[in-house]
Amino acid sequence: MCGIVGYIGTKRQAYPILIKGLKRLEYRGYDSAGIALINGNDDLNVYKAKGKVADLESFCAEKNIEGSVGIAHTRWATHGEPSSTNAHPHYSESKNLAIIHNGIIENYAEIKKNLMDKGIKFVSDTDTEVLVQLIEYIQERKNLDLLTAVQVALHQVIGAYAIAILDKRHPDTVIAARKQSPLVVGIGDDEFFLGSDASPIIEYTDQVVYLEDGNIAVMKLGEELKVVNILNEELSPEIKTVDINLGQIEKGGYPHFMLKEIFEQPECLKNCMRGRINVEQDHVTLSALIDYRSWLLNAKRVIIVACGTSWHAGLIGKQLIETFCKIPVDVEYASEFRYRNPVVTKEDVVIALSQSGETADTLAAVELAKEKGAFIYGICNAIGSSIPRATNTGTYIHVGPEIGVASTKAFTGQVSVLTMFAIALADAKGTIKHGEYVKVVQELASIPEKITEVLKTNEQVADLARTFTYAHNFLYLGRGFSFPVALEGALKLKEISYIHAEGYPAAEMKHGPIALIDSDMPVVVIATHNAMYEKVRSNIQEIKARQGRVIALVSKGDEAIAKIADAVIELPDTMECLEPLVSTIPLQLLAYHIAVCKGKDVDQPRNLAKSVTVE
Ligand code: F6R
Repeated sequence: MCGIVGYIGTKRQAYPILIKGLKRLEYRGYDSAGIALINGNDDLNVYKAKGKVADLESFCAEKNIEGSVGIAHTRWATHGEPSSTNAHPHYSESKNLAIIHNGIIENYAEIKKNLMDKGIKFVSDTDTEVLVQLIEYIQERKNLDLLTAVQVALHQVIGAYAIAILDKRHPDTVIAARKQSPLVVGIGDDEFFLGSDASPIIEYTDQVVYLEDGNIAVMKLGEELKVVNILNEELSPEIKTVDINLGQIEKGGYPHFMLKEIFEQPECLKNCMRGRINVEQDHVTLSALIDYRSWLLNAKRVIIVACGTSWHAGLIGKQLIETFCKIPVDVEYASEFRYRNPVVTKEDVVIALSQSGETADTLAAVELAKEKGAFIYGICNAIGSSIPRATNTGTYIHVGPEIGVASTKAFTGQVSVLTMFAIALADAKGTIKHGEYVKVVQELASIPEKITEVLKTNEQVADLARTFTYAHNFLYLGRGFSFPVALEGALKLKEISYIHAEGYPAAEMKHGPIALIDSDMPVVVIATHNAMYEKVRSNIQEIKARQGRVIALVSKGDEAIAKIADAVIELPDTMECLEPLVSTIPLQLLAYHIAVCKGKDVDQPRNLAKSVTVE
């Protein structure tokens, strides 16, 4: 996720504040960084580097870094690969303006084409450059001041943004604006600070204004902060006193990154679907499916390779692709696949699933499948990482950096992309009826709201966790689409609470695990109202007959299971194929709260690494 820092004042140099601020934002994850400074002689200089803020510092070592007005950015690539050219700030064509931007301009391609038709030249692949060129075009064509040009441009833009702009002809002013992407203004003594969160600011001032959606802030030296909207109506910003430490800000006020990431999921999935599900919510577009249509349409088989949580997402992907596209799918542990000389042909499509994009086994599986001539499709989170670079094409899940070692939002992001992939391909192949296709698209678009509803069970799950912290073993059961969710719930618990847990298809219980059940054994059962409901209910009865303790995830209003289970967590209804996206959430919360009750290091569990780059 990108980061923004800005400074304008008279008493201090901007550069050290901006660099320190960028370092404070490093926790968000990024692939390049840049800085724009208005130097004493009203020059506007932009310095950018791929890599870390330290690389930017080395790059700036011999440059002119004088000046007390500047903006700076860490970029997490969305449009265009990570590179110094695509890094922010971006100049306008005349180099009078420089902009930094968090978010996505959805209609950038259309605007870019219009501007190119008018002869404007672009140097980067980014949606951000399109915005600054649009602002300049409007400013010059209509002879407008910068604020008005920004207002007119933002009127034309669809998407999310937090931006900051400098104009070298007006070195006493910084303009910033936000829509769906946070931005904080810090107010000092004849100086202003800007940040995508308060972490780059609180060292200098505790007086801040959290900009609201649609706010445009004008920070002008010698004047008070002015906040207007797109129609130039003046607003009264509420100045707040912040009383928080840096660690709290980075975690967004949550005690752990894992909890923050669990709660971020509604927003993350909206980002994942943005620009892919259309506004009418009746169509999915994945550019990879357009660009490589014939490869994908002609696939005789799909092989999914992944590890850990990503492998669980792959099991859900198998059911989605087989259900909708009628193509056989194998799901392989990448570590096994790479060493067992698998049969792979040119007619296979291999999907590599990986949050980090760096998992050594998954990367090796991709290389092997490539050698055998398969078409490789990556579904990853970290932009520009090794796996996406090694694939023919793919789709990023766009859920932002995942910092907690236990994967949460990446799992739901992967399942969302696999759902979009399956129905878009099925639509192209004609293996899904149009009515059903539209129903899945609509229902998928409503999942973020349903997750928000499930997150309201947090306190209830925390209470349950206190009751069950004693346990040394847990069983997780589910069927159909819920079986991989059972595996994932068990993995989450193992990883962070160090309690032994197993996931099973519910009907397999009789073939062995039932021997484990006694009054000390908690069994988590996913028992929502779907085709397998009656059978899973019988499994619950079998567990209760052996004094097992049942925590059941049920559909809202289910009284039958509430009567027999020890505890029930209610879930909103959704289509069976989308249930994993809601039923996973309480299991993430349960693992989290049990680990907290046991006093474990939730974000960095023992022996685990976030990115497994060795075998
Ligand atoms: C589980 C977890 C791991 C990863 C696995 C693959 O919470 O984080 O099981 O899922 O190491 O990692 P990626 O998805 O980065 O390839």
